[in-house]
Amino acid sequence: MLTSEPGGRGGDVPGPDRAPMTAIPDRIERAVAMLDVQPHSRILEIGCGAGLAIACLCERAPSATIAAIDRSPAMIDRARANNREATIAGRVALQQGALAGARLPRAAFDIIFAINVNIFWRGGAREIEAVKALLAPKGSFWTFYEPPVAAKTRSIAKNVRSALARGGFAVERVVDDPESRKPFVAIAAKIG
Ligand SMILES: C[S@@+](CC[C@H](N)C(=O)[O-])C[C@H]1O[C@@H](n2cnc3c(N)ncnc32)[C@H](O)[C@@H]1O
Repeated sequence: MLTSEPGGRGGDVPGPDRAPMTAIPDRIERAVAMLDVQPHSRILEIGCGAGLAIACLCERAPSATIAAIDRSPAMIDRARANNREATIAGRVALQQGALAGARLPRAAFDIIFAINVNIFWRGGAREIEAVKALLAPKGSFWTFYEPPVAAKTRSIAKNVRSALARGGFAVERVVDDPESRKPFVAIAAKIG
């Protein structure tokens, strides 16, 4: 069972027989809403953490398939616990390891995204190369950040744009929203 952070969108009230709720941070709600998910989209999340975006996607697009990678074993365990049914059903495939060098199918994902994964605004040439190899020809790559201070959104957007351009991507959309309740940046790109 998932709910929004206090003041966020959506939400639910736990009954006595319900599983404990996990709060969905604003950045995850906003990111999932921006991805142009189609009924049968093949999706890859990089740095899935506790798997909350995966759970939101499972609710939003029950026929989509979702792969996710995180280098932290503890995070993969939490992602599995938060998506137990979908993992058992084979709709969600979790992989522990670093993106660069990961065993994932090439040109197989319509949407690849990462939320608050700093490798991309730090340059991440190997990781951007890996994304390029994994993305389907017309697929979209999204990066999202919720920096702790509003002053950071512009430099994050600039750094990600430069890194993507160096890696052969064409940036299609940038949302720089430092004024919202939580500062937020989104950058969408396709293989250029
Ligand atoms: C700040 S956390 C964000 C987690 C989640 N996306 C969220 O927004 O709550 C960043 C996550 O990315 C993972 N990560 C960082 N670099 C990675 C890499 N090169 N390959 C795979 N996972 C990575 C970390 O282990 C961590 O779980």
